[in-house]
Amino acid sequence: MVDSSPDEREWVTPPESFVETANVTAADCEAFREAGWPECWERPADLLDWDRSFDSVLDDEGTTRWFPGGRLNASYNCVDRHVEAGRGGETAISWEGKLGETRTYSYRELADEVNAFAAALREMGVGEDDVVTLYLPMIPELPVAMLACARIGAPHSVVFAGFSADALATRLAGTESEYLVTCDGYYRRGAALDLKSRADNACVSVDHAVEQVVVNRLDDDPAAGDHRAYADLVADHAGAEIEPVSREADDLLFLIYTSGTTGEPTLVRHTTGGYLTHVAWTSHAVLDLGPEDTHWCSADVGWITGHSYAVYGPLALGATTVLYEGTPDHPETDRLWEIIERNEVDVFYTAPTSIRAFMKWGEQHPESHDLSSLRLLGTVGEPIDETAWHWYRDHVGDGECPVVDTWWQTETGGIVLSTLPGVDRMRPGAVGKSLPGIETDVVDELGESAPPGESGQLVVTRPWPGMARSLCEGSGWGARRTRTVDGEWQYATGDNAVRDEDGYVHLLGRADDVLKVSDRRLSTTEIESAIVGVEGVAEAAVVVGEDADAVRKSEIHAFVSPESNVAGDDALRGRVREAVEEAIGPIAAPDVVTFTPSLPKTRSGKVVRRYLAAIANGEDLGDTSALRNPEVVGELESLLDR
Ligand code: WTA
Repeated sequence: MVDSSPDEREWVTPPESFVETANVTAADCEAFREAGWPECWERPADLLDWDRSFDSVLDDEGTTRWFPGGRLNASYNCVDRHVEAGRGGETAISWEGKLGETRTYSYRELADEVNAFAAALREMGVGEDDVVTLYLPMIPELPVAMLACARIGAPHSVVFAGFSADALATRLAGTESEYLVTCDGYYRRGAALDLKSRADNACVSVDHAVEQVVVNRLDDDPAAGDHRAYADLVADHAGAEIEPVSREADDLLFLIYTSGTTGEPTLVRHTTGGYLTHVAWTSHAVLDLGPEDTHWCSADVGWITGHSYAVYGPLALGATTVLYEGTPDHPETDRLWEIIERNEVDVFYTAPTSIRAFMKWGEQHPESHDLSSLRLLGTVGEPIDETAWHWYRDHVGDGECPVVDTWWQTETGGIVLSTLPGVDRMRPGAVGKSLPGIETDVVDELGESAPPGESGQLVVTRPWPGMARSLCEGSGWGARRTRTVDGEWQYATGDNAVRDEDGYVHLLGRADDVLKVSDRRLSTTEIESAIVGVEGVAEAAVVVGEDADAVRKSEIHAFVSPESNVAGDDALRGRVREAVEEAIGPIAAPDVVTFTPSLPKTRSGKVVRRYLAAIANGEDLGDTSALRNPEVVGELESLLDR
């Protein structure tokens, strides 16, 4: 329950100096309201350059189409138009490499490389609507390749570089993608990892032929023959000018897989006009970005957060985006602060799990750097508790910066709930309300509005521009997440939430089997089925826990019950981890594996992950008498000594 008695409420007001210069003011919000839905979305669409203006904002007959009749190109909007505006010399991308290298791309240089690579892709035979898979770590070639695809109207499908060959193969097959851009390898915690052999293993297990382009990151010079070298392609096409393909607003910009509620990864498709409008507008309104700003979204571009707020949003607005290949504690725990100081970052956007890690490492790290360039902080990905919120504002934001807690999902394309930093008061621990032009509700099981203080599922009750294409058509997965209640459309987000008396939404976590650890969105079912596939394992359940040694951050904790004649030992532990690494990737491998004779279950036999999460986090379990086997809880607690 949320305490909503008026005198207990804590409000934090953004500083006057911020409000005075904010991109979006209270008057703008009023204008939004007056325009009404969906017409209010016309103004955000003006942030983009359209080749042909749209006939109407929304066509809601049958399938939902945003900006019908409109035509545009995302690469033109993110690159060319800034060069045409005389800003070609401004920095587009500032890259911070793993080994301390740095590289910057001005908008002019970005335009040159995007054009050259677009020409190369076209020469390889990539046509409009052909899917190009990008399996790359955080190197500048990743956004370059995304924009090159967008230029020729080929939807990209970025696969996070931490995924395994099996996971890549599933994604190549699922999108029928015949082109793969990858690299020889990359560095993680100082060690070189081989990506090329993973890519090769994936390609051989796909039914169709896949043509590979390989970026040379490690100077390994991978064996020639079966692929083209990125550097050669770009050099061969230097100076090429590729006319940006004019796409219909509803044409696909990209595909991205995410974890759904079942074991299977789910394909989410995003459009050109609606998505780009949504991310440009929210970058402008919530992250308060403009062309003069340096923005750093620390998420990996392999996930949606990186697509929207490290690439498309900031570049559409002509800002500088900082791209960072690394782990925040390598080589030193102050790496992030050093990067902010050196790049004079204005807006920093990160995940609560990272903030909790920064807290553990100590405030002396941010405080030993000059972070005075920062004027706004943001968080995304998981609920942020009040302590972490205040720590972030006090020690990173000098007690002054507004902090926007932004809620959204792969399916929503961009931010849906947040405070507007130039308009709204902030309430630590709550995300805020829906943005202007978006309507949400918290509903009970029947889809009826829950009163303030009562929890229910967060739903979005009107279409919004960044919504995935798959949410509004056909009978597939997307359509299954939408329903009509009393004639009103609803999109079920899968998150539980509660609204307070002021309408601010507090997120309570997932209502389904999706597991969130920072950027990582994984499916508990997918991990558990990989574990159960190991010989000798009877049952398994995974939860997210905080790292007990206070050295790292959130971790995946697996509770595994071996078959009765099998020992729960390090050998089995190793096989469990290997099985998950192979099926999904090292990012999904459990950090902790605890063996247990059985898992806590309800009388009807359902595993109660909630208790396991409490055990993993050393929290009080409350009443466990409803369990069929309450004794197992005590055994586990003593085993973990928490
Ligand atoms: C969770 C990431 C609480 C939520 C952008 C959602 C959050 C899932 C917040 C989507 C937040 C995201 N507070 N929870 N501010 N932001 N989430 O698709 O459970 O990787 O459904 O998109 O992250 O994760 P996804």
